[in-house]
Amino acid sequence: MTVKKICCIGAGYVGGPTMAVIAKQCPDIQVTVVDLNEARIAAWNDHDVNKIPVYEPGLSEVVSEARGRNLFFSTDVDQAINEADMIFISVNTPTKTYGAGKGQAADLKWIELCARQIARVSKSDKIVVEKSTLPVRTARTLKDILQHTGNGVKFQILSNPEFLAEGTAVEDLLKPDRVLIGGDQDEEGKKAIEALVNIYAQWVPRERILTTNVWSSELSKLTANAFLAQRVSSINALSELCEHTEADINEVARAIGTDSRIGPKFLKASVGFGGSCFQKDILNLVYIARSYGLTEVADYWEQVIIMNDHQKKRFANKIIKTLYNTVNGKKIAFLGWAFKKDTNDTRESAAIYVADHLLYEQAHVGVYDPKVPEQQVYTDLDYLATRSSDENSKLVQVYNDPYEACKDAHAVAILTEWDEFKHYDWQRIYDNMLKPAHIFDGRNILDKAKLENIGFKICPIGS
Ligand code: NAD
Ligand code: UDX
Repeated sequence: MTVKKICCIGAGYVGGPTMAVIAKQCPDIQVTVVDLNEARIAAWNDHDVNKIPVYEPGLSEVVSEARGRNLFFSTDVDQAINEADMIFISVNTPTKTYGAGKGQAADLKWIELCARQIARVSKSDKIVVEKSTLPVRTARTLKDILQHTGNGVKFQILSNPEFLAEGTAVEDLLKPDRVLIGGDQDEEGKKAIEALVNIYAQWVPRERILTTNVWSSELSKLTANAFLAQRVSSINALSELCEHTEADINEVARAIGTDSRIGPKFLKASVGFGGSCFQKDILNLVYIARSYGLTEVADYWEQVIIMNDHQKKRFANKIIKTLYNTVNGKKIAFLGWAFKKDTNDTRESAAIYVADHLLYEQAHVGVYDPKVPEQQVYTDLDYLATRSSDENSKLVQVYNDPYEACKDAHAVAILTEWDEFKHYDWQRIYDNMLKPAHIFDGRNILDKAKLENIGFKICPIGS
């Protein structure tokens, strides 16, 4: 079967970039991305392509090439579903905040709503693709809902998890390490798999397109994230040991990473991993393992999260301890608020938790981030509900100039590894700070020797 029209439900950090790249690479396929959020769709349609809601290097170029040609953004979900041969579900699957599994299980409310809407609206056979990250065996639920529509429409369900990382989404989509497609292993299932393989094969070499049964595909996505996060927690655990032993975590990481069985990537010690995926997906894995009675398996993976929480708290405590055990009324400048560089996404960013801990000690926090809007900083802090929103606005100030953010500060903390931080006029920053002037480099990106020469007291991670 040849797919002519695609609909993607969910115009977020995954749906938007993924569909833009499919549309760019497959000009013969009409791709419509739909969302309930009208403001988000309006932003994707903004004639100023720099105002699209997701910041990713190279994305605005891809969108301007395909938008209006074979890429459309719309709020008319029913129509797009009805017209499509293939429907991607790319809605959010956050950690549940209520009821059974609260704080661990994935909230599949939006997934189920999509399935029910597809079931209600569809008048012709369709392939439904799980693009969202889902607990293993979700396809069973989808099938149950879709098979009981009573209108005789046939559905095939595929799992096609997305491995892009934010900040490098376009590059990851254009040159993926692999594309994973899981489906039923009967004849109809294999036909559906082939239809999706043919789309990716327009630009991805066939040997990089892996096909599996649907359960392996669902489980592989959760576990890929768990393995990646585990590496960060492992190196962060060692960074604390380095700080007590005069070993240097950068040297240790290099020494470990040159072992070809281990490899160099994802061994960068940091203030802790963030992002919308790692924590949520590991918690979900832990929940699934517990639900099968696999206590040791659950505890093993949970430790990755415990270590990450420890790393964030440890960083905040180090700032407090170094500033003579009191930060009350002291200004601490944060460079970076996003969970990593080259994205405007702040979900689960370490910066939020470090700030919260310092605010608890009545510090004043000044924030500068090149891509995060002022309101987002307050929204993130208010969401924690640690203190009133009035107090947050009193204690936190957001700047659009890094030099202003650092002015009169007792300390600068690097929370995100934005490249521009390396190239600032650090002498100018030093001259305008209170002395002794401290830098807490939560990403180990600054040149320690050079800054010490200026007069800064530097606290990196893991040395
Ligand atoms: P997001 O919150 O940015 O986007 C989801 C969008 O879906 C929102 O705009 C929301 O309004 C919309 N939506 C929700 N329910 C809807 C409905 N019933 N009808 C229409 N629209 C609806 O989330 P995201 O970061 O794009 O993540 C989506 C999924 O992809 C998640 O399962 C996530 O785990 C997975 N994923 C994310 C990343 C990442 O880096 N962000 C990477 C790989 C996989
Ligand atoms: C992750 C996965 O990498 C991606 O494959 C999946 O599809 C979605 O989740 P993302 O969350 O966008 O992607 O970013 P990633 O590059 O994985 O970084 C996650 C966090 O780990 C960031 O806060 C990052 O700063 C941190 N990190 C990463 C480190 O602290 N050290 C490292 O060595 C690598």
